[in-house]
Amino acid sequence: MDVKQAIEKRRAFRCLEKTNITDEVINELVYAAQLTPSCFNNQPWRFVFVRSKEILTKLKEAINKGNEWTHAASLIIVVISKKDFDCIIKDREYYLFDTGMAVYAMILRATEIGLVAHPIAGYSPEKVREILKIPQDFNIITLIIIGKKSDKENNGFLNDYQVKVEKQRPERLPEERIFSIDAFDNRLNQKTEHKK
Ligand SMILES: Cc1cc2nc3c(=O)[nH]c(=O)nc-3n(C[C@H](O)[C@H](O)[C@H](O)COP(=O)(O)O)c2cc1C
Repeated sequence: MDVKQAIEKRRAFRCLEKTNITDEVINELVYAAQLTPSCFNNQPWRFVFVRSKEILTKLKEAINKGNEWTHAASLIIVVISKKDFDCIIKDREYYLFDTGMAVYAMILRATEIGLVAHPIAGYSPEKVREILKIPQDFNIITLIIIGKKSDKENNGFLNDYQVKVEKQRPERLPEERIFSIDAFDNRLNQKTEHKK
C-alpha cells in the first residue's frame, strides 16, 4: 500500500470487532510516531497503550455517551503531551501540532497493517487521568480506538448517522474553501457549517 492508498483507505469506522494486538503491532505504531518531524526535534508526543482486558474495561467507563461503539476496541492509545515539551514561539504552541502529526503517522500505519484507528474527543479526561494515573500537568489530547473493521452494518452500538457514515465518508469541504494560490482568498475565511 502506498501513502496515497493509505490516506484514501483510512476511515473513522465505528463498526469494529476484536483483534489480537501483538507486541509487534504496538512496536510498528510506536515506530511510526518516533520518526515524525517535530519543532527542534522535541518529540513532545507520549502514549499510554491500553491492551489488557481489565484496564480496557475500566477505561471504557471514561468514554462519553454516543461513543458506545468503542466497546469493541481491542486497543486504546491514550495520547498525552505537555505544552512545554515543545517549541513555544510567541502565540505559536507546537506541542498539539507535532503530536497530531505523530498520531496521523500511527493512524496511516495502522491502516496499512489492516487495522482501524479512530481518534476520539468524546471522553472524560478527568476519569482517564484517574484510571491511568496520568499526572495533572499532562494534556490528554485524544484516545485512538483500535480494532478490526467488522462487516456488519451495525454492531448494535451505532445511531442512524453513524450507520450512514460507516458506508460513506462524510462530506468534505470543496477545494476552493481550503486552499488558495499566491494570495489569501476570502473563501478561506469560512468555518465549516454542519447540516442539522
Ligand atoms: C480530534 C478528533 C476527535 C474526534 N472525536 C470523535 C468522537 O468523539 N466520536 C466519534 O465517533 N468520532 C470522532 N472523530 C472522528 C470524526 O468524526 C471523523 O474523522 C470525521 O467525521 C471524518 O470521517 P472519516 O475520518 O471517516 O473520513 C474524531 C476525529 C478527530 C480527528
